[in-house]
Amino acid sequence: MQNHISRRRFLELAAVSSGAALSAVKAMSQVPLRPLPVPELIDAASGVDAPVRLNLQQSRHDFGTGAASETLGINSSYLGPVVKVKTGQQVPFEVHNRIGEVSTLHWHGLHIPGDVDGGPHQEIEPGGTWRPEVPVAQPAATCWFHSHTHGRTARQTHGGLAGVMHIEDDASLSADLPKTYGVDDFTLVLQDKTFDAQGRMSYQLTGEVIENGFQGDQLVVNGALAPVGQTVPQGLVRLRILNACNARFLTLSLSGSQALNVIASDGGFLGSTFQTGTLEMSPGERYEVLLDMSQLEEAALMVSFSGNEGLGGWLGSILGRNGAQTALVLTRDPDRKGLTAALPDRLAILAPADPLSALRKREFSLNMGDGEELAALAANWGNVCGTAGGMGINGRPMKMDHVNLQMRKGEAEIWRIQADEQRHPFHIHGCSFRILQQDGAPPPGHASGWKDMVSVQEGWSEVLVRFDYPAAETSPFMYHCHILEHEDCGMMGQFTVG
Ligand code: C2O
Ligand code: CU
Ligand code: CU
Repeated sequence: MQNHISRRRFLELAAVSSGAALSAVKAMSQVPLRPLPVPELIDAASGVDAPVRLNLQQSRHDFGTGAASETLGINSSYLGPVVKVKTGQQVPFEVHNRIGEVSTLHWHGLHIPGDVDGGPHQEIEPGGTWRPEVPVAQPAATCWFHSHTHGRTARQTHGGLAGVMHIEDDASLSADLPKTYGVDDFTLVLQDKTFDAQGRMSYQLTGEVIENGFQGDQLVVNGALAPVGQTVPQGLVRLRILNACNARFLTLSLSGSQALNVIASDGGFLGSTFQTGTLEMSPGERYEVLLDMSQLEEAALMVSFSGNEGLGGWLGSILGRNGAQTALVLTRDPDRKGLTAALPDRLAILAPADPLSALRKREFSLNMGDGEELAALAANWGNVCGTAGGMGINGRPMKMDHVNLQMRKGEAEIWRIQADEQRHPFHIHGCSFRILQQDGAPPPGHASGWKDMVSVQEGWSEVLVRFDYPAAETSPFMYHCHILEHEDCGMMGQFTVG
């Protein structure tokens, strides 16, 4: 990796990048951009003869400010590798905890039994090792893994305990799609950070951070301050994008009013390519996007932050490009030929979600707050909000030894979710679901396929869900708000499947 860009240079870049116009992109290409960090690829898809080792470790990392920040990483100084696996495999992992405090590693988006899910009950003691055998049974998708240590998830994930998993299957491996890792198939982990005057990453769990979730002011891409740049061949380029922010909703767009060609969401491919000018991503969400770099010399991915408070999310998506920062600039190398296929119009067979298949409905209400009872319960139960307030679902904060619900394996249900205030990204373990409505309206095209995240703010959000894998009382699945501070503070519940 090339040397860090000076603070002054960084400010100049940031100034240039605040405009979304193509001319700005042109101006930017005159100066050397920070290169896009490409996470190490652990390719287990063609078989493994030894367990995949993931070392959770304490480290120091320069995000590009010139200073070393105290960080956590997985086999790395910050964040983790991309692990590629294939449907039908059973993948043995060895997760070593070297961070000096208890941790866990949850496989977000995987359809797996509760005892290998890596949730809050599968704690790895400091110095200890967790050896799950992870069955991969679902279609191709971009998933991820992160700390899920109850009361510490926000701090540990912000610190860097997160990585990406590519699930491939026969169809995805033979599809006419870019799939050469780091050449025309890129993984982007988007996060927001705050740096102190010395350029070191800072995180403080104040009352306000608990209430709104951590909201940084600087965009980082794969652990490097934006903007970053990458040269690509002439042809289709695939971006697998993860919003790994603790709490920020992100609105993505492309320079020059190019459309984003969305091909996959959390749980895998859409039925066909969905084109959109802006793409809003909640924390925890993944989308895959294609860019046709046979048509473009240069393209810039723009990202704007929105909070989850009040109308923030809604305003952010309306204002879209305003206040957008450049995340990534792709520059075409005219001498390299890539994949010159058309944008796919048929990606997967996606039957319409059938609400009539549901045997029952359940209602969830996400509670913030000031209820004395919630506060007292939260304080007693050791959630991070302490006496500052309480958060819960249906009036109860998460309690490690209380299982909230029992699900029946194989039975479809409709989960109706509503929220008191703010916008909350709701997540369910052990499944993918279909969104029937989000904030009281049908889901946008990019969110109408397989998902494990749904946003909840105004009106009801409804998902059609079914659990096909068992979870016992000792290793239940979670449902929770993916604003990690809310989760830690108790906006989470547990269920068994049997
Ligand atoms: Cu990504 Cu239960 O979390
Ligand atoms: Cu999860
Ligand atoms: Cu929340």
